[in-house]
Amino acid sequence: MVNWNDKFAERTAYMKRSTIREILKLTQRPEVISFAGGLPAPELFPLERVQAAARAVLEQRGQQALQYSTTEGCDELRDWVAARLSRGGLTITRDNVLIVSGAQQAIDLVGRVLLDDGDTVVLENPTYLGMLAAWRPYNLHYSVIPTDADGLLVDRLDKVLVRRPKLIYLVPNFQNPQGITLSWERREQLVECLVEYGAVVIEDNPYGELRYSGSHIPSLYEFDASCRGSRSLDGHVIYAGTFSKILAPGLRLGWVAAPTPVIEKLVQAKQGADLQSGTLSQLVAYETCKDGFIEEHIERLRAVYRQRRDLMLAAMEEFFPQEARWSKPEGGLFLMVSLPEFLDASDLLKEAINRQVAFVPGQDFHVEGGYNTFRLNFSNAQPAQIEEGIRRLGRLLKDVVVRQPV
Ligand SMILES: Cc1ncc(COP(=O)(O)O)c(C=O)c1O
Repeated sequence: MVNWNDKFAERTAYMKRSTIREILKLTQRPEVISFAGGLPAPELFPLERVQAAARAVLEQRGQQALQYSTTEGCDELRDWVAARLSRGGLTITRDNVLIVSGAQQAIDLVGRVLLDDGDTVVLENPTYLGMLAAWRPYNLHYSVIPTDADGLLVDRLDKVLVRRPKLIYLVPNFQNPQGITLSWERREQLVECLVEYGAVVIEDNPYGELRYSGSHIPSLYEFDASCRGSRSLDGHVIYAGTFSKILAPGLRLGWVAAPTPVIEKLVQAKQGADLQSGTLSQLVAYETCKDGFIEEHIERLRAVYRQRRDLMLAAMEEFFPQEARWSKPEGGLFLMVSLPEFLDASDLLKEAINRQVAFVPGQDFHVEGGYNTFRLNFSNAQPAQIEEGIRRLGRLLKDVVVRQPV
């Protein structure tokens, strides 16, 4: 018998399974109302359009679609992404764009080309769990900066950047897990800091197009260019986007937009990882999105998700105890609840599942603290389930809040 523990590389000691994915298994029972996953609403997938796109691709260029293609990605899809990223006035070209297998791969590849073992990375706390998982093997040091309703407390950055960390990772729009958004003023301050210290930021933006209220705020790469008087993507920002939330996560497609030297290195890393993202997926995504279809589709998503967010927030007002606090997201898929400090959300989850409702405990999103928080997803459940699920959760929270130790 092989003792595999003697064989595994040392860096695997830092890896662990995602608690969320384990919880998701428990919540798949149909009687459980789950606010745990980060899943888009499947009934909104544009099935007919994707079917027609797949048929057209296979009929018109089937051999190309089933063949290997370039690591960078299919030209028409890169051009399409570049054109969308240029809508704010910059000139971004396909040379700035690498097609990847979801934003998760963007994060993984960025780690491979920028991070050395033991590097310091600046994070908002809490932050995206998948990034922590991807970069765990590098045994990083984290410089953790707290957030409030306007996102990262950017005035704390100066103190951190003087120590020259390798990079900053941020989800500026409708962050996962809190749903909060980095304000206009803080984006300006942030890019000024980047320019002053020659620092770089990974702008991970899966949710930016899913805004339900408030006004659009430009991306960090746009603030960065404007701060430097540039019209190109040649500054301090590496941007990650995805089709997962605006079209379908099963396509496993996203993109990185970055200065060309960064793209070149990422291409080298991607060649080692998977050669390329699926040609068929890329061509189907392009054929689906083109001619303005995706804009109409995003409008439909916004209308439904806005209604579900509003419903969840209204139900929380009605059913949650006054001791609970929660974020009020202007978009995205999530909000986060904070409980009194004597409560541990992981313990509560067991009780919640007994009562047939589920959430994700917040601790795993936190580099420090967060045991008394949990994340709720509002995109996946039907309206009637949202109301009933929040009613069940509210009853549970009221029951445990009164058990407060003296
Ligand atoms: C902040 C953030 N980044 C990246 C991802 C990964 O998305 P993708 O499906 O594009 O890999 C997610 C998915 O939930 C996310 O929330």
